[in-house]
Amino acid sequence: MIVLVTGGAGFIGSNFVRFILEARPDCRVVNLDKLTYAGNLDNLRDVSHRWEGDRYFFIKGDIAHRPLVREIFSGEKAPKPDVVVNFAAESHVDRSIIDSTPFVETNIKGTQVLLDAAREFGTELFIHVSTDEVYGSLPLGDGRFKEEDPLLPNSPYSAAKAASDLLCRAYYRTHGFPVIVTRCCNNYGPYQFPEKLIPLMILNALEGKPLPVYGDGKNVREWIHVLDHCRALDFLIDHGEPGEIYNIGTGEEKANIDMVRDLIAHVASLSGKPLEELESLIAFVKDRPGHDLRYALNSDKLLKLGWSPGCSLEERLRETVSWYLENRDWCDRVRSGEYREYYEKWYGDRLEGG
Ligand code: NAD
Ligand code: DAU
Repeated sequence: MIVLVTGGAGFIGSNFVRFILEARPDCRVVNLDKLTYAGNLDNLRDVSHRWEGDRYFFIKGDIAHRPLVREIFSGEKAPKPDVVVNFAAESHVDRSIIDSTPFVETNIKGTQVLLDAAREFGTELFIHVSTDEVYGSLPLGDGRFKEEDPLLPNSPYSAAKAASDLLCRAYYRTHGFPVIVTRCCNNYGPYQFPEKLIPLMILNALEGKPLPVYGDGKNVREWIHVLDHCRALDFLIDHGEPGEIYNIGTGEEKANIDMVRDLIAHVASLSGKPLEELESLIAFVKDRPGHDLRYALNSDKLLKLGWSPGCSLEERLRETVSWYLENRDWCDRVRSGEYREYYEKWYGDRLEGG
């Protein structure tokens, strides 16, 4: 089986490339990635060392670049793909508030270009990796989003993801194109770009910088370890039904402020920094505009099919903190000049001296 992974140099994509090459000895992977600020070949050093040119092929390029994408699907550039897993996207909500242009270009137009080329040259299965954010926000307490719920996205990021979900649905209904849409909750684990809550808080705590909690910190997210997400996607290659949508969640919810407190407790015990010192870094700052209060998924459809999460947040959070402590070089390398500019622009007026 030849799998085209788009966005394979990002957080979830790189974990997936490694996962599927290990899990399926008969599989080869073509990774198409534009290498934006969020994509780093550093995330795949071991993969490239073990398998490049044999079972792993990297192509630097844009999913919205039609001539290149057609060459890939026709088999001119690399082995012709049987299965596509589309991770490539602009993925950070805060950046979509600053400028939504690349979100529309990549998340919507890029997905359309991929769907067209996959249809033209034939593909057995196209998995479109979407997000729980397309459903919008839930009140605190009970209630979970089901696959058939309406899409009510609130950020330019989630609106662009919702648009691409609907394109996938339309290609199935109109053309009978074999596409599955997955909607996963918040991922955590190794190689997550340090603009996202968990790595940002770990690194700021280690560096003695303020820990910027938006609003009152009571917003709730549901968390999944990235390898459980990868396992779900791999499972759906064999067991998913084209035309269907699958929520991927764990039921493990946490308010942001509780997550930050858990993280600093782990940082304190792993690094020896005094806990009180880290707690004093917590800074409640101006809220994210349009900030969704709560996400929670009903994942019964996938659970009934036979997938289940393999580990709990409790078990894996400490291990994740420890990974960032042990991989400070990686953290320093990926936080380029571009990232520092973004940090200043977004947090500058939120944090004095942040
Ligand atoms: P990420 O930002 O870490 O990685 C995105 C990758 O896509 C990067 O390698 C980047 O270089 C690449 N990319 C961006 N634009 C591209 C383009 N035009 N052409 C080719 N490559 C391009 O994102 P992530 O957190 O790994 O998320 C991956 C996917 O999973 C996204 O589609 C996201 O919407 C979805 N998702 C993420 C989460 C989460 O918690 N991180 C949860 C649910 C769904
Ligand atoms: O739910 C899935 C989504 O999870 C994915 O689709 C997105 O690609 C991914 O980025 C993530 O979106 P969130 O907005 O939930 O993740 P983020 O890590 O940016 O923020 C998590 C929560 O923490 C959110 O309520 C905002 C809050 N937050 C975040 C940052 C970066 C803070 O309070 N302070 C911060 O500095």
